[in-house]
Amino acid sequence: MAKKYGILAYPAGHSLSPAVHNAAFKAMKVRAEYKAHEIEEVDLDDFMKMVRNNFAGLSVSLPYKEIVIKYLDEIDDHARRIGAVNTIVNNNGFLVGYNTDFLGSNKAITEVIKGPSTKGMIAVIIGAGGAARAIAYGLLSLGMNVWIKNRTKSKADAIAIELAELFDAEIHSEEWDNWQTGDILINATSFWIQNPDTTAENLPKFCDENFLREFKVVMDISYNVHLKNFPDPLMTPLLIKAKELGLKTISGDKMLLYQAVEQFKLWTGEEAPIEIMRKALEEEGKRCF
Ligand code: ATR
Repeated sequence: MAKKYGILAYPAGHSLSPAVHNAAFKAMKVRAEYKAHEIEEVDLDDFMKMVRNNFAGLSVSLPYKEIVIKYLDEIDDHARRIGAVNTIVNNNGFLVGYNTDFLGSNKAITEVIKGPSTKGMIAVIIGAGGAARAIAYGLLSLGMNVWIKNRTKSKADAIAIELAELFDAEIHSEEWDNWQTGDILINATSFWIQNPDTTAENLPKFCDENFLREFKVVMDISYNVHLKNFPDPLMTPLLIKAKELGLKTISGDKMLLYQAVEQFKLWTGEEAPIEIMRKALEEEGKRCF
């Protein structure tokens, strides 16, 4: 019998994860299948019972990364501190929760920075949702200082207060109107999804050239954006601007890929076939857009 894996999300229709994980299982000759499960919240109890009885592991995506914690028997320290689980391992009916999102963003960022130590660098994170929180946690664990800013400042304050206690590196929340620069900029908002009509004349403040030009690296975690005036779903207007200014850019598929790599390791105990997963992600991305 093939082991069952899947992704829990709502909506789940456009998930790229099945293609990535099935390609990895096939390449490593793991007898397993991975499917998308679009589950409404009223059906979550029943679905999680089924997971406990029939699944070997599960990816958890929006909007369930926090609520799913109540169904678990154990949660690892990183996931507990981040307050979100994106990976479940089923050990014979005992469900353990992990978070691989912060590892995914750390890998995406450090592979671009390469040489210099990340200690003491300043990362500016825009947004204060679950993704921003996991990224902030990861960067603080690398010794970077984090300025977190959000349209609704109270949410950035809450993240800064909680994470500041855990690390030696500094985290501060910033006023939305204070556009101080740093070494690395990360857009972790859902701005593009909320604003599909964005034009080159109508860009948000975080795309402003005078703000951007001091940074060395710019990352945008959005990877499934359908902007009417920008045809490439990975090159968001922010990344286009950053590239024009000669900055290094990181598109959202990288974080997605590397968090999946960490999931594969947790589920199989083996190293993941990264290049095969990268190729599957690229092909499935093209097929969907
Ligand atoms: P996720 O868990 O994926 O991070 P989320 O919790 O919905 O998603 O968070 C979305 C983030 O995008 C929030 O920080 C949100 O800001 P608010 O907290 O003020 O709502 C941010 N966001 C969404 N639309 C935005 C916009 N038009 N301008 C600025 N920030 C925006």
